[in-house]
Amino acid sequence: MAKIFATDRDGTKHEIDVRDRSTLMEILKQAGLSIEALCSGCCQCATCHVFIEEPWLSKLKPQTDFELATLEGEGSEIRSDSRLSCQVKWLAELDGIVLTVAPEA
Ligand code: FES
Repeated sequence: MAKIFATDRDGTKHEIDVRDRSTLMEILKQAGLSIEALCSGCCQCATCHVFIEEPWLSKLKPQTDFELATLEGEGSEIRSDSRLSCQVKWLAELDGIVLTVAPEA
C-alpha cells in the first residue's frame, strides 16, 4: 500500500496508508492532521498549505498562478517547497512522499 510520511504542525509524525486516489488535502484531513481546508479544496483559503520534500516536489504538476496567488494572500511563510495540498492529486509515483503541514498564518 502507498504511504505518506507527514509531520503535523505540532511535530507529530504520521505514517499514512493511502487507500484512495483523491487529493493530498483529503487524505491528510481524513488522517486527522491539522488541515482545516476551509474552502473544501476550491483553492481559496490556503488552510491546506504544506511543505513537500524532494524528490516528490519535482514530480508534481507545476503550481498555477491561481494557487500561488492564494498562497500569497494567506500571509504565512511561503517557501520554494510550498504547495496547497488540495491542488495535488494523488499519483502512484507519490508513494513515500514526505511533507510537513505549514504553520498557521
Ligand atoms: S482547501 Fe482551501 S485552498 Fe486548499
